[in-house]
Amino acid sequence: MAFINEHYLKLQAGYLFPEISRRVKEFTESNPVAAARLIRCGIGDVTEPLPPACTEALHAAVDEMADRETFKGYGPEHGYDFLREAISENDFQSRGVNVTADEIFVSDGAKCDTANILDILGHQNRIAITDPVYPVYLDTNVMAGHTDTADDAGQYGGIIYLPCTAENNFVPATPDEKADIIYLCYPNNPTGATATREQLAGWVAYAKENNTLILFDAAYEAFIQDAEVPHSIYEIAGARECAIEFRSFSKNAGFTGTRCAFTVIPKELTGTDTEGNAHSLHSLWSRRTATKFNGASYPIQKAAAAVYSDAGKTQVQELVTHYMGNAKILREATIAAGLEVFGGTNAPYIWLKTPNAAPSWNIFDRVLNEAAVVITPGAGFGNAGEGYFRISAFNSRANAEEVAERIGAMAW
Ligand code: MLT
Repeated sequence: MAFINEHYLKLQAGYLFPEISRRVKEFTESNPVAAARLIRCGIGDVTEPLPPACTEALHAAVDEMADRETFKGYGPEHGYDFLREAISENDFQSRGVNVTADEIFVSDGAKCDTANILDILGHQNRIAITDPVYPVYLDTNVMAGHTDTADDAGQYGGIIYLPCTAENNFVPATPDEKADIIYLCYPNNPTGATATREQLAGWVAYAKENNTLILFDAAYEAFIQDAEVPHSIYEIAGARECAIEFRSFSKNAGFTGTRCAFTVIPKELTGTDTEGNAHSLHSLWSRRTATKFNGASYPIQKAAAAVYSDAGKTQVQELVTHYMGNAKILREATIAAGLEVFGGTNAPYIWLKTPNAAPSWNIFDRVLNEAAVVITPGAGFGNAGEGYFRISAFNSRANAEEVAERIGAMAW
């Protein structure tokens, strides 16, 4: 028998969302009546159809694939130029941010990219993560053998945890010790918090002083409403020398089931070998991509490029307005119910304190049983998430209103 990667045995319980699904399945099987009115606000999965500009582009591209003259086989591993150029122009250059098309790597998902990036990074790196955190950052480091086993409190040895609390507005101060890699996600999943320009500048200064690589997940940037909040880490001077940015079409354009995302690696960004020689991370990722990936499919990239057409821009804005309208409804209802509420103003997630410091899985069970609504327990995002729960604003308007009413009517 082949040996297994034993680091997987260090992982705790299931991945958060499958664990939620397991509990929901149990509930729906034993409560068929309640199951019929179940509303899911757990995983941040979009509910509204793709923008028409995207589906039209998708149909047209499928027709091209059906015609010998326009058929395409393998595409460029890093993405088609038409998409990389549209991203560079619309997401960066038009905001005065210098990211060129050849620094953009198109992929089939930001989740995979934030996980796969470890391929090009050394095992000896000291990793820092915010707590609570999107579980992928932590679990992939456990899988790669970058941690010891978890202690009784569920924290892995070898990881620098940076607690994000109401006291620090869910943006941690830079650590006193040196981290080689730090994962940051703003607008934040799960807390819905944003980082100000000054806070991000503080992180860039820390990174430059300590030779730290920032892995910046900006999957939710489209939901920023406040003009002062940066959309990209590259809006901060010096970030090109210390940060990789991950973006996605999943949440802004509803591509969770369609799959398209991209990663930005500036040309001047380097990592070091054990002898202290600098190497281009862009070149390493390029090499890795060429070996392990054959590119996102042509029709999907055409659909993604349509996000940047005039019609696409309007339609994406409508989707964002829709989900942020839900967030407002959910925020107002939960505040009126007497809950302590965060997020939901620049991000599609509402982050709530559990009343009387109740364990978050207890709140998960209560909301499921009393309101037939699925939320996400904060504990699933890490120790500092305990005592909180998350409501996703990704839903139809009717469901958001219904959830607001049901949760609002619970005896908190
Ligand atoms: C979430 O609910 O945290 C996200 O949907 C997870 C993801 O984007 O993979």
